[in-house]
Amino acid sequence: MKRTECHSRNRQTVSAGRQPTLQGWLDEATAQITAAEVSLENGMQEACLEAEFLVYHALLRVLPAEEVDRLRSEGGERRKIAKVLARWQNWLQRQPPPGFAAILTEFLHKRLQQRLPAAYVVGEAPFAGHLYLVTPAVLIPRSRIENMLADAKKLRRLFDKGEPKRILDLGTGSGCLAIAFAMAFPEAQVEGVDVSPAALAVAAANGCRFRMNSRVSWRQSDLFAQLGKSRYSLIVSNPPYVDQQSMAVLPQEYRHEPALALDGGVDGLAVVEPILRQAADHLTAEGVLICEVGDETEQRMRARWPTLQVNWIPFHFGASGVFVASRKNLLDWAEQLAGQGREVTEAD
Ligand SMILES: C[S@@+](CC[C@H](N)C(=O)[O-])C[C@H]1O[C@@H](n2cnc3c(N)ncnc32)[C@H](O)[C@@H]1O
Repeated sequence: MKRTECHSRNRQTVSAGRQPTLQGWLDEATAQITAAEVSLENGMQEACLEAEFLVYHALLRVLPAEEVDRLRSEGGERRKIAKVLARWQNWLQRQPPPGFAAILTEFLHKRLQQRLPAAYVVGEAPFAGHLYLVTPAVLIPRSRIENMLADAKKLRRLFDKGEPKRILDLGTGSGCLAIAFAMAFPEAQVEGVDVSPAALAVAAANGCRFRMNSRVSWRQSDLFAQLGKSRYSLIVSNPPYVDQQSMAVLPQEYRHEPALALDGGVDGLAVVEPILRQAADHLTAEGVLICEVGDETEQRMRARWPTLQVNWIPFHFGASGVFVASRKNLLDWAEQLAGQGREVTEAD
């Protein structure tokens, strides 16, 4: 455990007969999560960070409305939750408000006994600086594309011919990418598309939460099938890309997420490949596709389609798994594939 990331200090325990402080509850939650050896959530890969997340959300349920608004506005980044709680340092030494203990106990039960991911336990997940509503109908937001959104200057550089005016988020899930891109490009109209009506209901609720309904709309479609001839200056997608082998050994926590959001078929490319083949028909002349495929699928794409010219985005953690392709990249590749197909047919 990296001590710097967490609050703990001198471990306090929650024992019968003593009224524990908030710090005591934090330490107790950390100890229980550590002992249970659960699979920790992406972005919170230390027991103490999950404990802070659960404590923070239990506080949101019991504090007065003004405090809740303030805490909520500060808690959109996983790593900042520790800082938000740290500002409560004096308070950490006091007893939490009435009702807190029962709520945290229920949260811990769901997390540790039912192995529910922390975000489903509390019904919210941080993404790109904001807290999104989540239910088990949607993937818990964790797209690496969040890192691109964090660097607005670099992101804008992808659009040297002008900022995107019409954006499609294909496989929108909770709507987190659609809404985050709408925030990043305030002039843009955004469509969030998913094949799952249950996911679209959550996305629409997030659209309301962030008052985005005038600029972000939601539509059911199996990839591009129901989108007619619509064209976009940016298509962003975090499609399902977990291959069959990895699907078979998913930790219990991930099994609460919809298989539709994860399952990328035998080689992880079942949804990625049709996106690559069809995106050019829905991009404007200067349009760009940003797509997350993860590390293993990236390696498969590089091996299978060496002539596909895309720009793999380097991230601070030393990997990519996200590519940017222009419409021209995709058309050139499709032409080469068609040429190879013709060669095979003629040789037959
Ligand atoms: C990995 S999740 C990404 C969700 C969200 N964009 C995010 O980054 O958190 C993939 C999403 O694609 C949707 N999906 C899967 N197959 C699809 C298809 N054929 N057409 C449209 N959406 C699909 C799933 O329902 C799921 O919401």
